[in-house]
Amino acid sequence: MGSIEELSEQLSGQNDCTYVYGSRFAAMPMPSHQLPDGEMPKEVAYQLIKDDLALDGQPILNLASFVTTYMEDEALKLLAESSNKNIIDHEEYPKSVEIEHRCLNILADLFHSPVSDGHPTAFGTSCIGSSEAIMIATLAMKKRWQINRKAQGKDASNPNIVMSSGVQVCWEKAARYFEIAEKLVPCTETRYVIDPVQAVDMVDENTIGICAILGTTYTGQYEDVQAISELLIKKGLDTPIHVDAASGGFVAPFVNPDLVWDFKLPNVVSINVSGHKYGLVYPGIGWALWRSPEYLPEELVFNIDYLGAEQLNFTMNFSKPASHIIAQYYQLIRLGRSGYTNIMTNLTRTADYLTSQLQEMGFIIMSEGGGQGLPVVAFRLSPTQNVFFDEWALARKLRERGWIVPAYTMAADCETMGMMRAVVRTDFSMGRCISLVRDVQDALGDLAGMEIRNIQRYQALVQSYVKISRKSFVDRTCSRVVNREIGKEIEGV
Ligand SMILES: Cc1ncc(COP(=O)(O)O)c(C=O)c1O
Repeated sequence: MGSIEELSEQLSGQNDCTYVYGSRFAAMPMPSHQLPDGEMPKEVAYQLIKDDLALDGQPILNLASFVTTYMEDEALKLLAESSNKNIIDHEEYPKSVEIEHRCLNILADLFHSPVSDGHPTAFGTSCIGSSEAIMIATLAMKKRWQINRKAQGKDASNPNIVMSSGVQVCWEKAARYFEIAEKLVPCTETRYVIDPVQAVDMVDENTIGICAILGTTYTGQYEDVQAISELLIKKGLDTPIHVDAASGGFVAPFVNPDLVWDFKLPNVVSINVSGHKYGLVYPGIGWALWRSPEYLPEELVFNIDYLGAEQLNFTMNFSKPASHIIAQYYQLIRLGRSGYTNIMTNLTRTADYLTSQLQEMGFIIMSEGGGQGLPVVAFRLSPTQNVFFDEWALARKLRERGWIVPAYTMAADCETMGMMRAVVRTDFSMGRCISLVRDVQDALGDLAGMEIRNIQRYQALVQSYVKISRKSFVDRTCSRVVNREIGKEIEGV
């Protein structure tokens, strides 16, 4: 057979068969480097791309991700119907813009915004995800700090931010992109969240703020925002706190409503939350909220006149579909407080069940149960399990059954520690959890069996080496004796 180019050349003359796999397109590689010269029928393009995607993992078995993998048909319909609307066109799509504001009002209320004249003071914007929200919030803290420093005639060239070494990578990005030094509170082998005392001790005159995480990416644990706030107050510091509630913002208010972490605390100036995680919308939507307008410096707000409307804009991106905002609104009004509470309570119970089963198998549990953290189960192999394989081997074995339960190393400062994490999401019902438990047990059994077979193979190999070397020792000894005898005979001659 000739090259791919030759093959394409030969096939280009072939009559098009209307059956996808009889068409010439099915006999050619998928275009990967250049725009094809001609068209292909839409059914063929659809089927070939669908086939190509079959090698992706199954989203519902992907327990690595926090991102929503189930939505109702009605939500999907709204999502599809509004995906051709660009939310930036305020004049053309005023209802979509109003719906964005409704979502923000609901979130401001959920996060206990202060109220002035009967209205919440908190305001914000939709973003493409929590990362974008964090970028803007970090920039806002930096600008505000610079403005204050300059007003006092002080140097404003060395900003720093205090956060745990377990922050999500977007925080490192924000620090690097906006030239802010990272002051990291180290995680330890027994503490995977920020230590409030160390964090507050690290604050200096150049600190733009402290980041506290409501549900860390590694273990799902909540950092103690209240303790940080109280320590700051005790020390007479007005350092702003930004709460990264990417996941916890849609969990804690329903499972753990008494936890104090949001705008109830006076130092909390901004919060981000991902609509596409426990907000139950497909990727990508996130939200950034500020306590009140004074925390978002004016220089970050663009007053644009776009397509006939005056509007305020403070996002990194310009165009984006209205669809995810509409889908978020659907989830908020469809589920209400009781719906979110039912779902998050189910997930918490399922996570607790998974935790108990893994504990019985001997794993060390690193996450917090009983609604004290996210419905996430972080675990690692324990020395008592007496195994020679590691978490990566177990993850690979589970992958054979379709499960994506990643193995990775803990955050900086304990990066030698291997661990695994299962994110319990809406569609991870108890039935599916029981299947996972069974598959983990089977995987452990298979890996242990493989170890025994490997050990037996090594033993056999070692024994065969021992036999060979014994034989060659005997052979060598014999030949030395023979040589000596021959030598003697020769000497005697
Ligand atoms: C704590 C935390 N912050 C921020 C992010 C980034 O969120 P997004 O994927 O919505 O940009 C994540 C993502 O997992 C996260 O867990």
